[in-house]
Amino acid sequence: MRVLNTVLLLVAVPTALAVKTQDFKTCSQAGFCRRGRALAARAQENPASWTSPYSVDAGSLAISADQASFTAAVKSSLYPQIKFGLDVRVHDDGIVRVRMDEVDGLRKHYDEAASWALIADPTVSKNVKWTIGKKEVRAKYGPKKDVEIVVAFEPLKVTLFRGGKEQIVINGRGLLHMEHFRTKAAEQAQTTEEGLNTEDAQTVLSTNNPRAWFEGDTEDAYWEEQWSSWTDSKPKGPESLSLDITFPNHGHVYGIPQHASTLSLRTTTGESPYYTDPYRLYNADTFEYLADSTMSLYGSIPLMHAHSADSTVAVFNAIGSETWIDVSHPTDKSTETHWISESGILDIFILPGPKPEDIFEQWARLTGASVLPAEWSLGYHQCRWNYVSSDDVRQVQKRFDEEDIPVDVFWLDIEYAEEHKYFMWDEKSFPDPVEMANDVSANARKTVAIIDPHLKRVSTFPVYQEAHENGYLVKTKDSNEYEGWCWSGNSAWPDFFNPASWEWWHQLFKTEKIEGKFTWVDSTKDVHIWNDMNEPAIFNGPEISMPRDNIHHGGWEHRDLHNINGMLFSNQTYQGVLKRTNPAERPFVLTRSFYAGSQRFGAMWTGDNLGTWEHMAVGIKMVLTNSIAGFAFSGSDVGGFFGNPEPEMLTRWYQVGIFSPFLRAHAHIDTKRREPYLLDEPYKSIIRDTLRLRYAMLPVWYTAFREA
Ligand SMILES: *[C@@H]1O[C@H](CO)[C@@H](O)[C@H](O)[C@H]1NC(C)=O
Repeated sequence: MRVLNTVLLLVAVPTALAVKTQDFKTCSQAGFCRRGRALAARAQENPASWTSPYSVDAGSLAISADQASFTAAVKSSLYPQIKFGLDVRVHDDGIVRVRMDEVDGLRKHYDEAASWALIADPTVSKNVKWTIGKKEVRAKYGPKKDVEIVVAFEPLKVTLFRGGKEQIVINGRGLLHMEHFRTKAAEQAQTTEEGLNTEDAQTVLSTNNPRAWFEGDTEDAYWEEQWSSWTDSKPKGPESLSLDITFPNHGHVYGIPQHASTLSLRTTTGESPYYTDPYRLYNADTFEYLADSTMSLYGSIPLMHAHSADSTVAVFNAIGSETWIDVSHPTDKSTETHWISESGILDIFILPGPKPEDIFEQWARLTGASVLPAEWSLGYHQCRWNYVSSDDVRQVQKRFDEEDIPVDVFWLDIEYAEEHKYFMWDEKSFPDPVEMANDVSANARKTVAIIDPHLKRVSTFPVYQEAHENGYLVKTKDSNEYEGWCWSGNSAWPDFFNPASWEWWHQLFKTEKIEGKFTWVDSTKDVHIWNDMNEPAIFNGPEISMPRDNIHHGGWEHRDLHNINGMLFSNQTYQGVLKRTNPAERPFVLTRSFYAGSQRFGAMWTGDNLGTWEHMAVGIKMVLTNSIAGFAFSGSDVGGFFGNPEPEMLTRWYQVGIFSPFLRAHAHIDTKRREPYLLDEPYKSIIRDTLRLRYAMLPVWYTAFREA
């Protein structure tokens, strides 16, 4: 959440007054996105002469001993000295994985996104045999032998056929481009004397640059990038990845959460696009987000389904960096997409379907099923920023019971923690946290408390001290401890890409004393966890997040793994809560930020929505899109986070909310209290009946999760 700095939210807020769009980049403000879209525009202008410069060196092709995969060298005619390697394999369930990376480059492209997303290394098929032809290599497979994957050599093109019909085509439009690592000096040698920085920091390349037809004739934001008051140092130079994926026989595409948009994705380019910017994936604390937009929100799952009356297929683009996706429909029965990412290798998983339920199964085998929730967590959750004291919590519980309104969980937002040092109770307001949690547990209910990733940088906070002393914190580009501003003031962020930090984080959740270590003795095994702000949200950072040139474990830059960051935090919280009981009890962890695979660790919600009818409606679409992307344990805050919904709106919101997998009411600190018992009749009784309907359906929810 962020502090509301306007009081105009009483009734329906005109969307124009919402999000500060100037806080977030558009495609034209991101160098690599500009370059990607310009490449597509050049291809569009010269459709007859346009061919992809990338080709497979047929002579290098090597089929593995198990027959299911092959490797080959790939070259770009623009840079004959740069080497790329291709690896194509078919998994035992028919998924095709296509990987391409630069070989022996000056640096390494980030190649670990899939290893975080996948539950295990998939086994390759035993029933696939590649046939090498003059112009392509192909394999037929599937129970009916009606699926065929074809990799054409020149130019490189990957096509999945079923029943002889094209389902998915990669690089069919020739937009594939993996910018190779280069040195600044080598590039500068190519520029003419007048190759000076122009107003928009573009370096003009030599007029006889033979690559201009493909790459353009400027070095647009290659080595440094200015945006608003920030400078991104980009020490690795250009390394973006552009990729076109076409579904020639599918008129609808779905997925790629998280956006406040329609279920069937709209056009962003072409003749008359519905949106002007591509769908953006860059996890961000998008304060007062719009109810109809391609702007990025808190999480990213780069999985897209393509659907037609007789076929459903999907692609997973395993990338951790910022990614923009253009969508267009050349006809109403076909879809073209263009994926533009800031960094990373090409690592595409082709899910062959052929039915939607097959995609769900293939996706679950790849990245895991939704966690099986404890039954109590499918009940009604009561939250507010903030229940201000332990007696406040007791009083709210008492009022629910007096009014006989069902509820299972009481939540504590950031104000329970002294100076927002999470795990440390504010002793004045919460003098007896264990007794309070036990009073809630005495009625077979649970407590959820918030634990955010920003650690207040003070010596009186043992959690920060331990992380600092052990070197578990994210570093700046100059290898200093990164400091940013968040709820806790001057703060640092744990780096969960460092496996050495995991045990340390797990031990914090122990409820018993451990000599010489901080453990959460002021909690109980019935206190579960809410992870917020894990995009990460940083008030004084670019786009309210972390500088892209910050450094994580392994030397990777923040830009490489930004979208994965939030998942690692909620995973380690989940693992910590799991370990604190023996035998283990199922943890409940709510996360705001997420990536492909986050469904394994708990629930998500759609963040800081507005108390408007538009947000109530788009919340349904967002929850459905999340489910399509495999993360079913999801919900939107009932009532809307910002504003004071009138009684009818609040009542309707409960009626909607009980049909989402995760059901929580939440409200901003500046709003009036709105617990259901405070409403007049008939609203109070309608909400009571609505919540009872949810409880009557708990076996349905629980069974549905078991099946999911
Ligand atoms: C989750 O945490 C476990 C260990 O605690 C680790 O083995 C696994 O790789 C982690 N996965 C992700 C996605 O963070």
